[in-house]
Amino acid sequence: MSQSIRVMGICGTYDLKSANGRMLELILNECAEQGAEISIWDHGDKPLPLVGAKGSWDDVNVKEFQEMATSADAYILSSPEYHGTMSGVMKNSLDWLYSKHTSGKVFGLVCTLGGQSSNNTLNHMRIAARWIHGWVIPEQVAVPNIKEAFEEDGSLKNAAIRERVSSLATSIVTNTIKLRR
Ligand SMILES: Cc1cc2nc3c(=O)[nH]c(=O)nc-3n(C[C@H](O)[C@H](O)[C@H](O)COP(=O)(O)O)c2cc1C
Repeated sequence: MSQSIRVMGICGTYDLKSANGRMLELILNECAEQGAEISIWDHGDKPLPLVGAKGSWDDVNVKEFQEMATSADAYILSSPEYHGTMSGVMKNSLDWLYSKHTSGKVFGLVCTLGGQSSNNTLNHMRIAARWIHGWVIPEQVAVPNIKEAFEEDGSLKNAAIRERVSSLATSIVTNTIKLRR
């Protein structure tokens, strides 16, 4: 790869050991294998206040989160589906990002579900990413029946989902390079 790109993972839970943390790890590792620099925001370690809460506009974690986002060329959003949409943690993370941080950058989307596969959360994140002027790639991953999705070693059981993870990582890297030319 001639150009170095930075891909940032944003998790829709506080715990990077959650299913969504694991999905981010799998995809970011594939991006790294293709030459990308990777980073991940840890909400457990550095929680973001709700937008507008007392003191939130001067919060040090918010500032650091926005700086990490500014330095990234692309993002992977991974959220659990809660009541048919993205988690509050994911929505609040996106609410702290404006087009000055994200405009013209690539977004890849992932969601996990306790039940059957659905595109609701993916579509809702797609809309929010568009509103902060992101380019959302068409490849996306929904992981249904999440409690049964992983082997004990943390790999995905389903080969079709593993393939979608690889396609997503490749598309993130190749489209980020194309957009930066
Ligand atoms: C408040 C809440 C609402 C949920 N709503 C849904 C839902 O609408 N559809 C669904 O399939 N699973 C739903 N679930 C299950 C989560 O999607 C599931 O626990 C999550 O994907 C696991 O990912 P995690 O380990 O990263 O938290 C819900 C869970 C919680 C806690």
